Amino acid sequence: MKILAAPLQGYTDSAWRLAHTAVFGPDGLPDAYFAPFLRVEKGDVRPRDLRDLAAGPAGTVPQIIFKDLDEFDLLTTALVSNGHHHIDLNLGCPFPPQCHKGRGAAMVARADLLRAVADRMTSLPDIDFSVKMRLGLNSPDEWRSTIAIIDAMPLTHITVHPRTGRQQYKGELHMDEFGELLGVVSKPVIFNGDIATATDIAALADRYPALAGVMTGRGLLASPWLLAEYRNDETWPQERRIAALLAMHSSIFDTYAPTLCGETQLLSKLLPFWEYPAVHLPAKLAKTLRKARTLAAYLQEIKRLGS
Ligand SMILES: Cc1cc2nc3c(=O)[nH]c(=O)nc-3n(C[C@H](O)[C@H](O)[C@H](O)COP(=O)(O)O)c2cc1C
Repeated sequence: MKILAAPLQGYTDSAWRLAHTAVFGPDGLPDAYFAPFLRVEKGDVRPRDLRDLAAGPAGTVPQIIFKDLDEFDLLTTALVSNGHHHIDLNLGCPFPPQCHKGRGAAMVARADLLRAVADRMTSLPDIDFSVKMRLGLNSPDEWRSTIAIIDAMPLTHITVHPRTGRQQYKGELHMDEFGELLGVVSKPVIFNGDIATATDIAALADRYPALAGVMTGRGLLASPWLLAEYRNDETWPQERRIAALLAMHSSIFDTYAPTLCGETQLLSKLLPFWEYPAVHLPAKLAKTLRKARTLAAYLQEIKRLGS
């Protein structure tokens, strides 16, 4: 079973990916990190998105979100000319500003565009494509109308988050629909959604022997030792977990501190790191950390965590 690290805009940028690689290798690393999506802005790719991808780690898979073939062409051309050989297609973003324009989760119902994209892929035989999708935008059975088109694409795998776009990131996972989808597609399928512990990974592997792998997002952000625990069949004690979080934090701090000017900017990059792992911190400390408005106050809490 492959274990992949999900893309989360604003969280899993290169600083986080590099810190994770540095602290948890080799047993604790995913088979691949998937980077947050690249999009077209003011008619072009944002150079800083390309720079973030180039920062690594090596093998990070870029993802694109697009509303038509023009955007698909622009983004794939930019990635190919920057040396990327694997591109993941976002068919799952639930944010209304994207979906209203036909991007992300709205794509699951756009048969004509998906056919055109499938055709375009055949002109890029050297690129590995994969898809990350939801079951639909409004209803969990929408995938049925286009899954044959998606399955006929030249894909390495299809990652499925079994919610609708309307659900965003909460609520019931539609496991029955997921099971049916798994039964009809020929491409390797990766499950994604609410994996928080090593036990969750093992349960999915047991329940779906046909699964090619799992992808974890918020669970890995909260517990970056998750894959080490799963692969080595162990439960890390609290001190080891806190030490690992501090080591990751130190790496992220060292990435940003020399390049960002002003403590507000620096804090805006550092505070998100603690958002998901907060469940493992003493509640009071997590709260003070979250509310820190000066670098001195923030660093004082980090020091307390390490003492
Ligand atoms: C803040 C945030 C940003 C996200 N950014 C992306 C993204 O750029 N591309 C994408 O395919 N999914 C994105 N996702 C969805 C995650 O990759 C993943 O599918 C979702 O969180 C469910 O998996 P999890 O329960 O393991 O977190 C994002 C989710 C969140 C909460």
